[in-house]
Amino acid sequence: MKNIVLIGMMGCGKSTVGTMLAQQLQRKLVDTDALIVEREGRSINEIFAAEGEDYFRTLELAVSRELGEAENLVIACGGGLPLQKECITALKKNGIVFWLCRNPGETYDSMDTSDRPLARQGRQDFLDRFAAREPIYRSAADHIILDFTSPEITMNNILEVLK
Ligand code: S3P
Repeated sequence: MKNIVLIGMMGCGKSTVGTMLAQQLQRKLVDTDALIVEREGRSINEIFAAEGEDYFRTLELAVSRELGEAENLVIACGGGLPLQKECITALKKNGIVFWLCRNPGETYDSMDTSDRPLARQGRQDFLDRFAAREPIYRSAADHIILDFTSPEITMNNILEVLK
Protein backbone atom coordinates (compact mmCIF):
# COMPACT_ATOMS: atom_id res chain seq x y z
CA MET A 1 0.00 0.00 0.00
CA LYS A 2 1.18 3.50 -0.80
CA ASN A 3 2.38 5.75 1.98
CA ILE A 4 0.12 8.56 3.13
CA VAL A 5 2.21 11.72 3.20
CA LEU A 6 1.04 14.77 5.15
CA ILE A 7 2.47 18.18 4.32
CA GLY A 8 1.61 21.69 5.49
CA MET A 9 2.71 24.55 7.64
CA MET A 10 4.25 24.04 11.08
CA GLY A 11 1.53 23.60 13.66
CA CYS A 12 -1.25 22.74 11.19
CA GLY A 13 -1.87 19.33 12.79
CA LYS A 14 0.19 16.89 10.69
CA SER A 15 1.47 14.97 13.72
CA THR A 16 -1.90 14.91 15.51
CA VAL A 17 -3.87 13.88 12.44
CA GLY A 18 -1.07 11.53 11.37
CA THR A 19 -1.14 9.74 14.72
CA MET A 20 -4.90 9.26 14.51
CA LEU A 21 -4.74 8.14 10.90
CA ALA A 22 -2.01 5.62 11.64
CA GLN A 23 -4.05 4.21 14.51
CA GLN A 24 -7.19 4.01 12.40
CA LEU A 25 -5.45 2.29 9.48
CA GLN A 26 -3.14 0.21 11.68
CA ARG A 27 -0.10 1.67 10.02
CA LYS A 28 3.14 2.96 11.40
CA LEU A 29 3.53 6.73 11.75
CA VAL A 30 6.85 8.28 10.81
CA ASP A 31 7.37 11.92 11.71
CA THR A 32 10.32 13.26 9.71
CA ASP A 33 11.27 15.74 12.47
CA ALA A 34 11.19 13.01 15.12
CA LEU A 35 13.29 10.71 12.93
CA ILE A 36 15.88 13.44 12.38
CA VAL A 37 15.97 14.30 16.09
CA GLU A 38 16.43 10.64 16.99
CA ARG A 39 19.24 10.14 14.51
CA GLU A 40 21.04 13.36 15.33
CA GLY A 41 20.58 12.90 19.08
CA ARG A 42 19.67 16.57 19.46
CA SER A 43 16.62 18.77 19.17
CA ILE A 44 15.50 20.74 16.10
CA ASN A 45 16.52 23.92 17.93
CA GLU A 46 19.99 22.51 18.58
CA ILE A 47 20.42 21.37 14.97
CA PHE A 48 19.39 24.79 13.61
CA ALA A 49 21.55 26.66 16.14
CA ALA A 50 24.68 24.54 15.63
CA GLU A 51 24.47 23.71 11.91
CA GLY A 52 21.94 26.07 10.33
CA GLU A 53 18.88 25.50 8.19
CA ASP A 54 20.72 24.20 5.09
CA TYR A 55 22.17 21.31 7.05
CA PHE A 56 18.72 20.46 8.41
CA ARG A 57 17.37 20.46 4.86
CA THR A 58 20.01 17.95 3.74
CA LEU A 59 18.83 15.66 6.53
CA GLU A 60 15.25 16.06 5.31
CA LEU A 61 16.28 15.07 1.81
CA ALA A 62 18.09 11.95 3.04
CA VAL A 63 15.07 10.94 5.12
CA SER A 64 12.70 11.57 2.19
CA ARG A 65 14.74 9.38 -0.12
CA GLU A 66 14.72 6.63 2.45
CA LEU A 67 10.99 6.85 3.16
CA GLY A 68 10.23 6.91 -0.56
CA GLU A 69 11.40 3.30 -0.63
CA ALA A 70 9.06 2.27 2.19
CA GLU A 71 5.39 1.34 2.09
CA ASN A 72 2.32 1.30 4.30
CA LEU A 73 3.42 4.27 6.36
CA VAL A 74 1.74 7.46 7.44
CA ILE A 75 4.42 10.13 7.06
CA ALA A 76 4.09 13.49 8.80
CA CYS A 77 6.57 15.85 7.11
CA GLY A 78 8.33 18.84 8.60
CA GLY A 79 6.67 22.02 7.37
CA GLY A 80 9.61 23.08 5.20
CA LEU A 81 10.33 19.69 3.64
CA PRO A 82 8.39 20.40 0.41
CA LEU A 83 10.65 23.44 -0.22
CA GLN A 84 13.04 20.95 -1.79
CA LYS A 85 11.29 19.53 -4.80
CA GLU A 86 13.52 16.44 -4.65
CA CYS A 87 12.00 15.55 -1.27
CA ILE A 88 8.51 15.46 -2.73
CA THR A 89 9.66 13.61 -5.84
CA ALA A 90 11.20 10.96 -3.57
CA LEU A 91 8.14 10.67 -1.34
CA LYS A 92 5.78 10.52 -4.31
CA LYS A 93 7.54 7.44 -5.62
CA ASN A 94 5.32 5.45 -3.33
CA GLY A 95 3.11 7.99 -1.62
CA ILE A 96 -0.06 10.05 -1.88
CA VAL A 97 0.49 13.62 -0.70
CA PHE A 98 -2.15 15.46 1.34
CA TRP A 99 -1.72 19.16 2.05
CA LEU A 100 -3.33 20.16 5.31
CA CYS A 101 -4.19 23.69 4.23
CA ARG A 102 -5.21 25.27 7.50
CA ASN A 103 -5.72 28.98 7.95
CA PRO A 104 -2.25 30.35 8.87
CA GLY A 105 -3.48 32.88 11.44
CA GLU A 106 -5.45 30.23 13.27
CA THR A 107 -2.45 27.88 13.03
CA TYR A 108 -0.06 30.45 14.47
CA ASP A 109 -2.40 31.35 17.33
CA SER A 110 -2.71 27.74 18.47
CA MET A 111 0.90 26.70 17.93
CA ASP A 112 3.66 25.81 20.36
CA THR A 113 6.77 27.59 19.03
CA SER A 114 9.24 26.20 21.58
CA ASP A 115 11.01 23.70 19.29
CA ARG A 116 10.21 25.56 16.08
CA PRO A 117 13.06 27.95 15.29
CA LEU A 118 11.36 29.31 12.16
CA ALA A 119 8.14 30.17 13.99
CA ARG A 120 9.71 32.57 16.42
CA GLN A 121 9.87 35.70 14.29
CA GLY A 122 6.30 36.69 15.07
CA ARG A 123 2.86 36.37 13.55
CA GLN A 124 3.43 38.50 10.44
CA ASP A 125 6.56 36.57 9.55
CA PHE A 126 4.58 33.35 9.87
CA LEU A 127 1.81 34.68 7.60
CA ASP A 128 4.40 35.83 5.04
CA ARG A 129 6.12 32.47 5.19
CA PHE A 130 2.80 30.75 4.56
CA ALA A 131 2.10 33.01 1.57
CA ALA A 132 5.52 32.22 0.10
CA ARG A 133 5.05 28.48 0.61
CA GLU A 134 1.44 28.20 -0.47
CA PRO A 135 2.18 27.63 -4.20
CA ILE A 136 4.82 25.07 -3.29
CA TYR A 137 2.42 23.11 -1.07
CA ARG A 138 -0.26 23.39 -3.73
CA SER A 139 1.89 21.98 -6.49
CA ALA A 140 3.21 19.18 -4.25
CA ALA A 141 -0.27 18.07 -3.18
CA ASP A 142 -2.27 15.25 -4.71
CA HIS A 143 -5.16 16.28 -2.44
CA ILE A 144 -5.91 19.39 -0.43
CA ILE A 145 -7.65 19.14 2.95
CA LEU A 146 -9.45 22.26 4.09
CA ASP A 147 -11.64 21.33 7.06
CA PHE A 148 -9.96 21.75 10.47
CA THR A 149 -13.05 21.85 12.63
CA SER A 150 -11.45 19.00 14.60
CA PRO A 151 -8.61 16.49 14.03
CA GLU A 152 -11.26 13.74 13.66
CA ILE A 153 -12.96 15.63 10.85
CA THR A 154 -9.64 16.28 9.12
CA MET A 155 -8.79 12.58 9.41
CA ASN A 156 -12.20 11.53 8.08
CA ASN A 157 -11.75 13.78 5.08
CA ILE A 158 -8.49 12.04 4.30
CA LEU A 159 -10.08 8.62 4.75
CA GLU A 160 -12.89 9.64 2.42
CA VAL A 161 -10.36 10.51 -0.31
CA LEU A 162 -8.59 7.18 0.19
CA LYS A 163 -11.76 5.11 -0.21
C1 S3P B 1 9.98 23.71 9.76
C2 S3P B 1 8.98 22.96 10.36
C3 S3P B 1 9.22 22.09 11.50
C4 S3P B 1 10.68 21.59 11.50
C5 S3P B 1 11.61 22.76 11.41
C6 S3P B 1 11.39 23.62 10.17
C7 S3P B 1 9.62 24.60 8.64
O1 S3P B 1 8.36 20.97 11.46
O2 S3P B 1 10.90 20.70 10.45
O3 S3P B 1 11.46 23.53 12.58
O4 S3P B 1 10.51 25.08 7.92
O5 S3P B 1 8.40 24.82 8.44
P1 S3P B 1 6.79 21.04 11.89
O6 S3P B 1 6.03 21.39 10.65
O7 S3P B 1 6.51 19.65 12.34
O8 S3P B 1 6.68 22.04 12.97
